[in-house]
Amino acid sequence: MSTAGYFRVRLSTIRALQPTPFDLYLYIDGKMILYVKTGDGISSEKIQKLHWRDTGESFFVSNDNKQAYRDYVKGLMNSSTMSNDEKAATLRESSIAILEDLFETPDVGVALEESKPIITDLLNFMNEAPGSIGNLISLSGHDFYTYNHSFDVSIYSLGLGQALGFDRKVLEELGQSSLFHDVGKRMVALEILCKKGPLDEAEWVQMRQHPQWGLKILNEHQGISDAIKAACMEHHESWSGGGYPQDLSGQEIHPFGRIVALTDTYDAMTTQRSYNVPMRPTEALEMMKTKLQGRFDPEMLKAMYSVLFKMEKKVAS
Ligand SMILES: [Fe+2]
Repeated sequence: MSTAGYFRVRLSTIRALQPTPFDLYLYIDGKMILYVKTGDGISSEKIQKLHWRDTGESFFVSNDNKQAYRDYVKGLMNSSTMSNDEKAATLRESSIAILEDLFETPDVGVALEESKPIITDLLNFMNEAPGSIGNLISLSGHDFYTYNHSFDVSIYSLGLGQALGFDRKVLEELGQSSLFHDVGKRMVALEILCKKGPLDEAEWVQMRQHPQWGLKILNEHQGISDAIKAACMEHHESWSGGGYPQDLSGQEIHPFGRIVALTDTYDAMTTQRSYNVPMRPTEALEMMKTKLQGRFDPEMLKAMYSVLFKMEKKVAS
């Protein structure tokens, strides 16, 4: 039996004693075992005992119950017994669970549409608890799965968009475009994407095609905005020129392309991948200001400082 038809959830998003409005399954030795029935709850002792098992690979909910899971998390976000930091962690883990599934959805148009509620929830939380948004960013700092990275890029982009004064509608579009900016990597060979170590020249040639390939994928669907397409196509352009694939510069680059260029680079520098040591936030910012100066819109880089200052936990780490 495979896990097809189910999506993974973290045990940390399930609260003790509360009845769960969906069946919760445990995946052991290739078998899906019904662990908590709809309407039942788990005791806190049991949750604690099970934590060693919660590697992110064990607990599942059926795809038919995706909405019930979302509603359950929404209820938790309104709870008065959880701190904002706990809510941030729950929102992150539950969003990643949904995203992991969406990133495997073959129809990108559907995936984009289904990502909207994630962005709405994030924006609501960012407005309600601005002091806790640093906790939305990966705490472990060493997962470089596409959905983790794309999620973090979205948080930084939304923060930057807010600092730049974008209105709610534009922020929603910015969040979606940040989540899917690397959609073209679906067409890059897996051994290149997962290579442990630097890419050779031929591999780079393929990797550098991902913005065009992303645009090609998005163009196959109706109703995807130019801004979402621009973030995908222009996030490897450089403010002073010399980027790819079009070698645009300055204002020629769509603002979404300039934002994602910045937040994507920042997150890549501060996240551990198999072959690099993550930089501390202050080091990464210093490098973006000096060695990489010219790559980013200077006004946006300045605004990024204020965003990271707000996420002080992350910056101070
Ligand atoms: Fe990219």
